[in-house]
Amino acid sequence: MLHGKRVLLIVSGGIAAYKSQELVRLLRKRGASVRCVLTRGGAQFVTPLSLSALSEDKVYTDLFSLTDEAEMGHIQLSRDADLVVVAPATADILAKMAQGQADDLATTALLATDKDVLVAPAMNVRMWTHAATQANLATLRERGVHFIGPNEGDMACGEFGPGRMAEPDEIADAVSDFFEDSAPLSGRRALVTSGPTHEPIDPVRYIANRSSGRQGHAIAAALARRGALTTLVSGPTNLPDPAGVQMIHVESAREMLAACESALPADIAVCAAAVADWRVATQASEKLKKNGSGVPALEMAENPDILATLSATANTRPDLVIGFAAETEDVVAHAQSKRERKGCDWILANDVSPETGTFGGADNTIHLVSAAGVEDWPTMSKIDVADRLAERIIEQLGAAE
Ligand code: CTP
Repeated sequence: MLHGKRVLLIVSGGIAAYKSQELVRLLRKRGASVRCVLTRGGAQFVTPLSLSALSEDKVYTDLFSLTDEAEMGHIQLSRDADLVVVAPATADILAKMAQGQADDLATTALLATDKDVLVAPAMNVRMWTHAATQANLATLRERGVHFIGPNEGDMACGEFGPGRMAEPDEIADAVSDFFEDSAPLSGRRALVTSGPTHEPIDPVRYIANRSSGRQGHAIAAALARRGALTTLVSGPTNLPDPAGVQMIHVESAREMLAACESALPADIAVCAAAVADWRVATQASEKLKKNGSGVPALEMAENPDILATLSATANTRPDLVIGFAAETEDVVAHAQSKRERKGCDWILANDVSPETGTFGGADNTIHLVSAAGVEDWPTMSKIDVADRLAERIIEQLGAAE
């Protein structure tokens, strides 16, 4: 159940370090890949070789190692993971984390990470109950660090009380719970359209628009990150395929519709593509030539409306169908009538007047128009719009249950 998840395990210097070897084994058995960082203290209790054999990966120990740094910089090490686990976490490493110190590879990775951190403390009972450790714990909790244990019991030092590291299977369960909680859309299917469409005129020419695909791709990535089984149907863009999505590349509006229909059923559909409203009625089979007979007259035909089609799908209509409206005036009023006309649930209306820089740019200003009214969102990056939309979708699907 941890398939595809990457855990960075930091092993600091406590007698419980020997249990971390079992933790590596359990996490890997559940499908996670585990990369280990061993502190100097940790290396007094377990060897890099045993952690390396169990993780089937290199073990990182030294902040100033030229070879390690060239292969995998310490910043990269902390970012490549989906979760950072510190087990065992000594009183010393907790103090350094609370202070923001970075004097070795482990603490540097902890300070540089942008991922969640799960800590399994292990120390003598008096060290654990000391006001300094408890204050550090409170600081770290407030910052959103997750804790598992310590448990109460006999300690290696002969005392009894809280301070024993949680057992490896308890830590592995906490890791699984973390990923379950961070995947509120698991079991849901999402369909997202993105990018422009290209409507062929002849074998070498086409009609297109300036959509970059950034918003649609970011939405697909945000839904996939939250556990949705996500299909992204995209027209031609310069963007890489987002991680974790099922990608279908298309060119024309009709291909996009066929790909969307093949991806049904879905619980959520988000149409962010800038689909060409018209295509050339009959595509020339040979390249159009300047043969002296004047300018070609292109007869146009209307393209299918993918958003309206998905909204009207009998039996397999997604629970939540969301479209965009690109407007240059009366943004909300136009979006409201578009929502009714196309039969979708929500319209994310955005002002695309040239002075806003929305089309092709990094930012977006959204008005979410639904049957319940209008939510005005502040200007934010397209990535933040995607995250906010994903959170609103989770709220909506939760409320509908
Ligand atoms: N859409 C679609 N299929 C089309 C046209 C549009 O799925 N053939 C979707 C877009 O993905 C978007 C919404 O419908 O979600 C935009 O609707 P559209 O009518 O194209 O509106 P605008 O682009 O805002 O332009 P206009 O109102 O000028 O037509």
